[in-house]
Amino acid sequence: MSPEKEEPMMILRLPGVYRPQHDTSLLADALLFEHLTARSRVLDLCTGTGALAVAASAAGAGHVVAVDISRRACANARLNGILNGTLIDSRRGDLTEAVHGELFDLVISNPPYVPALADDLPTAGIERAWDAGKDGRALIDRIAATVHEVLVPGGTLLLLQSVLCGVDKTEAILEEHGMAVEISARKYIPFGPVMRERRTMLEARGLITTGQEIEQLVIIRATKSRPSPNSM
Ligand SMILES: C[S@@+](CC[C@H](N)C(=O)[O-])C[C@H]1O[C@@H](n2cnc3c(N)ncnc32)[C@H](O)[C@@H]1O
Repeated sequence: MSPEKEEPMMILRLPGVYRPQHDTSLLADALLFEHLTARSRVLDLCTGTGALAVAASAAGAGHVVAVDISRRACANARLNGILNGTLIDSRRGDLTEAVHGELFDLVISNPPYVPALADDLPTAGIERAWDAGKDGRALIDRIAATVHEVLVPGGTLLLLQSVLCGVDKTEAILEEHGMAVEISARKYIPFGPVMRERRTMLEARGLITTGQEIEQLVIIRATKSRPSPNSM
């Protein structure tokens, strides 16, 4: 059974901020299956326009923190909160650095995951929204290895990524850190302009097959274990 859809949100995008796309909406849909209440604390890592932060608030979360490395994205998330009648606690920072010492019930993230020409990450510009090193895993690896530090016991991560940058590796890192992992959603989408432009490079690296024009996105749902009663 699918949960009821919320009222449509009004999301504005400032120039230079990632336009919400198929990946954003796949994660927004997955969010509707989570039980969120006025007591829920949600962290949206890599927020962009704040579309997912606003969706979390609309789905019932009482406190939503949105983090992005881009100043403009942080302003955009705050603005979209106001436009949708909710306060988004928007902070600039590098992944979880901006929420050090805080704990959340749910972390959602649609990070950069497109394999790039080089491992060096861009330090400015819209490319920061998708470039993720040669294997596309620069941000995913860091999120998978550190998210347990900002989750309450029993808390959940919903992480979006493309299959072509390796789902098994993400699952393995999360499991290494005590998280129980499942794939909660999958969707095939046509390559966008960035993927089309990089097709030759991706083919040469064996990340896609010749003539491939679609990729599969997945939502990895991971839950932090609770301490067993015997260990308390
Ligand atoms: C694919 S976009 C996703 C935007 C939005 N969550 C959505 O789904 O529409 C990735 C975002 O990650 C941000 N970003 C890149 N590196 C980051 C980092 N180290 N820490 C926080 N945000 C980062 C980019 O600025 C960009 O806004």
